[in-house]
Amino acid sequence: MEDLRPGRDVAEVVGGVIRQRRSTRHFSDRKVSHDDLLRLVEAGIYAPSGHNSQNQRFIILEQFKELEALDRVRFSWPYKSAVKRLMGRDPKGIIRGARAAIVVLSDDSLTSPGSTGEYFIWRDLNVQNSAASIQNILLLATAMGIGNVWISASSKMNFTRLLSSRRWAEALPEYEIPAHYSVHGVVALGYPRGTNADDEPEVFPAGERKHGVVWAPTERGNLDHYLIPRCRRKMKRMKGQLKGWDVVRLQLLDKLARASVSFTQRLDRAISHIEARSRKARRSSR
Ligand SMILES: Cc1cc2nc3c(=O)[nH]c(=O)nc-3n(C[C@H](O)[C@H](O)[C@H](O)COP(=O)(O)O)c2cc1C
Repeated sequence: MEDLRPGRDVAEVVGGVIRQRRSTRHFSDRKVSHDDLLRLVEAGIYAPSGHNSQNQRFIILEQFKELEALDRVRFSWPYKSAVKRLMGRDPKGIIRGARAAIVVLSDDSLTSPGSTGEYFIWRDLNVQNSAASIQNILLLATAMGIGNVWISASSKMNFTRLLSSRRWAEALPEYEIPAHYSVHGVVALGYPRGTNADDEPEVFPAGERKHGVVWAPTERGNLDHYLIPRCRRKMKRMKGQLKGWDVVRLQLLDKLARASVSFTQRLDRAISHIEARSRKARRSSR
């Protein structure tokens, strides 16, 4: 490791891994070794963290029973029976088909706002820290030839989008997950389907089916598509050209945008109070 000096060769390799990474959703029977899973968690630990909170936490799952339980929570869709009828099969989750998974959580007590308020900012750090860890895990897994996919997760999603009242913690009763931990994502892992032996080359998919229906190519466009060009001069010119109603409209939209940010912040504070109260109630009822 000490021999690894930054330079063109290392950049070539790292850049190659970054470009090669693709979401894998179909896995072979080949097991991912426990040592490899530990190495992946280590990659997650080396991710940056806002305020150096280092509050990312991890659970390694290797047993099918546990993967299945997690899968049931993540994919407990309210419209499951309708999907089954339409597709003629269960919308089986990806996690269940994986050989292992790493659940990424945050210890929210370490990014506690204390007396500073601004709860909404701190909570975002938890999500961002976890995302940094997840990406590290995906990249190292790719470098190791282990197929991987980022599965989004959060208790909020479970209550709203997926309309499930089941909590992540309930799916994993063998693990003591403190109430002040939040789940932010799951990395499903395994060797890509068709690679059952060490000497078989890994096959990362070049495209994917979204929710079993829409084909979405995953190759990326060229840099211009993603780069926002510098255009301040153009903006200034535009401002000078704005007249009458356009100026009024622009000002109104600006006010609306500011109001919506302030409303979101208030909402966030209200949520934080309710969560703190319910946490306190839970603690005192124990
Ligand atoms: C925040 C985040 C959440 C994601 N959640 C899911 C998910 O729940 N299920 C899934 O199959 N893929 C999920 N993905 C993977 C994306 O669908 C995938 O990265 C994207 O389609 C691009 O394909 P690629 O990863 O092969 O480049 C997620 C990716 C990110 C970054």
